[in-house]
Amino acid sequence: MRTGIGYGGRGPEGCPRSEEAHHPVAPAVWSWPWGPGRPAPARAAVDPAAAEEFLRLHHTECPAAGPVQPRLDQVHAQIQESGTYVHTPAELTFGARVAWRNASRCIGRLYWRSLRVRDRRHVADPDDVAAEAVTHLRQATNGGRIRPTVTVFAASTPQRDGPRIWNEQLIRYAGYRRPDGTVVGDPRSASFTDTVRGLGWAGGPGTRFDVLPLVVQAPGEPARLFDLPADAVLEVPLCHPRYGWFTDLGLRWHAVPVISNMCLEIGGICYPAAPFNGWYMGTEIGARNLADTSRYDLLPVVAGQLGLDTTHERSLWRDRALVELNVAVLHSFERAGITIADHHTESHRFLTHLAREQRAGRITPADWSWIVPPISAAATPVFHRYYDQADLRPNYVHHPQAHTLAGGVAPA
Ligand code: ARG
Repeated sequence: MRTGIGYGGRGPEGCPRSEEAHHPVAPAVWSWPWGPGRPAPARAAVDPAAAEEFLRLHHTECPAAGPVQPRLDQVHAQIQESGTYVHTPAELTFGARVAWRNASRCIGRLYWRSLRVRDRRHVADPDDVAAEAVTHLRQATNGGRIRPTVTVFAASTPQRDGPRIWNEQLIRYAGYRRPDGTVVGDPRSASFTDTVRGLGWAGGPGTRFDVLPLVVQAPGEPARLFDLPADAVLEVPLCHPRYGWFTDLGLRWHAVPVISNMCLEIGGICYPAAPFNGWYMGTEIGARNLADTSRYDLLPVVAGQLGLDTTHERSLWRDRALVELNVAVLHSFERAGITIADHHTESHRFLTHLAREQRAGRITPADWSWIVPPISAAATPVFHRYYDQADLRPNYVHHPQAHTLAGGVAPA
């Protein structure tokens, strides 16, 4: 088996270890079907300015990469000739890590340098993409000691788009529509569940927590379905440290969030399939997935069990139910030995990250509305300040088409 490039490979500022940085050129993973009489390329060529900006960033931040000029000459020539170029393994690793550093909605960026980058650029066939996605899950889950990981599949080239994963995350729960319009499972997945059934999925057992199959598509081919093996999907049954009845609610959540429909953009090159994960912050599950009225909508249920007065808003039953739900999430993950962060600790880490980045002479673009936790906002330090805003590259970006496939609407 090929080992991933950049595993544990850390140099200064997220640079791959020097032995990785010395590859002069990436191994040729594709042969180019170019030549006289070939049809014109389907997509635009890579923007040489975007390539140059990235290469200069890489060589500035990673001195072990050597002088930039020879690499610039080489890449300009590759673009001239083929319309694109091939990242070296060191460039890919650096690019994927900096893409995380530039993710303005992510509070968890303190550890951007330690992202594991699995170089699977030679993989484009849907069977192999699905198998590698399963391997990603296993390695990232790591028995509960979650490792931030990205798997990078084939790039889009002027001739051919890279493969795509339609699911918004590798693991998501189905949402089955009932005739009365209500949904069993995650209402967020209702449209996608319709789509997957339309592609031939027979459906799962019909619980509120049925894991959806993967939908993988190679360009110009029909999308294909792949069930995730149960042992690749670590889940946590939820219980509460003090309330026995909580267990009987039968709630659970999966251990690892792996975003799978954002495009990794590095130096003008798009990697449309590049699933990546960190670990959960408890509020994502306890204050959003299980609590939003458009999701599992469990606050009335929890408040009822707590015996709270739900007839008046000013009893603050929603707030009290939220706290207990979030206590249960953190407690259950911890008890199961699965990495999870609470929003207070993660907020402090983010401020540490901001300070480090400032010392390195960089801005940290951040979106206040995403960074501030959805509960106890002002009790965390990230609430009490503003942030730089910038849309930097490399980055993980939403392509509108991918959003449509996942059954959502493209973000503004
Ligand atoms: N909020 C999303 C969810 O609840 C996951 C987004 C990514 N989160 C993370 N901790 N890396 O599934």
